[in-house]
Amino acid sequence: MKAQVIALDAPSQSFWWNGGSALRTRIFDALSIVGPSGETFIVNALSEWAKEMADEPGFVSSKLHKEILRLISEEAAHQRAHDVYNKRLNGNTHAKRLEDHMEASMQEMVGLKLSTRLAFVAAFEQLAALHSAEILRPGSVWLSEGNSHQAHLWRWHSREEIAHHKVSIDVLKCYKVGHTKRIAAFVMATIYLHLDLLYFTASFCRADVRAKRINGWQLIFETLTFTVRAIPSMLRMGWGCLNYLVGREQKFG
Ligand SMILES: [Fe+2]
Ligand SMILES: [Fe+2]
Repeated sequence: MKAQVIALDAPSQSFWWNGGSALRTRIFDALSIVGPSGETFIVNALSEWAKEMADEPGFVSSKLHKEILRLISEEAAHQRAHDVYNKRLNGNTHAKRLEDHMEASMQEMVGLKLSTRLAFVAAFEQLAALHSAEILRPGSVWLSEGNSHQAHLWRWHSREEIAHHKVSIDVLKCYKVGHTKRIAAFVMATIYLHLDLLYFTASFCRADVRAKRINGWQLIFETLTFTVRAIPSMLRMGWGCLNYLVGREQKFG
């Protein structure tokens, strides 16, 4: 159900760029807040590991090294795109405050051992691949078929994310990161990432209701119907999480 717009200077359909849905638009806006600092964390950990490995015979010419360089350059491009996206978002929301909050949370992880950070990198990439597979699914409950630049950006970002999880798993194998550490990082990353996403989405929506960009009751109705529609997708992602925890190889896309 599309959000009912009640203000006189009501936002246009393109304001709620995700199929006219305020909730789904704000879910992706929240994802964009998480993106840049998460990607900085991934790029820094992988760059540090690649630098450490540079003296190992054959590493620099290996397939894994090429894949890491590609992943790093793709994440850097995502960061630039999301910086622009978030700057626009900051024009009519408190996006900058949420970005600062996210950046501060990620900063707390910078001092962790490299093996722990790499376990988190693999966890974030697995979660990104699971989300991306659902975003790219035909008739996705998350992302509309629309032609907005935001929808194009998310499809491009999701297509590139799909391949990253395999690279991060190969890094874990190469660095011999233990299964317990890998599981612990995944559980923590899943909980913290989704709590942040929930908090950011709720924070955007609350501000929209206060600014009368959307009607509170319509938003509640939209949230309930969306939650029911998203159950199959959430079950598939839950299954993907279980597969990761038992160490089963997964294919996306
Ligand atoms: Fe990315
Ligand atoms: Fe990625």
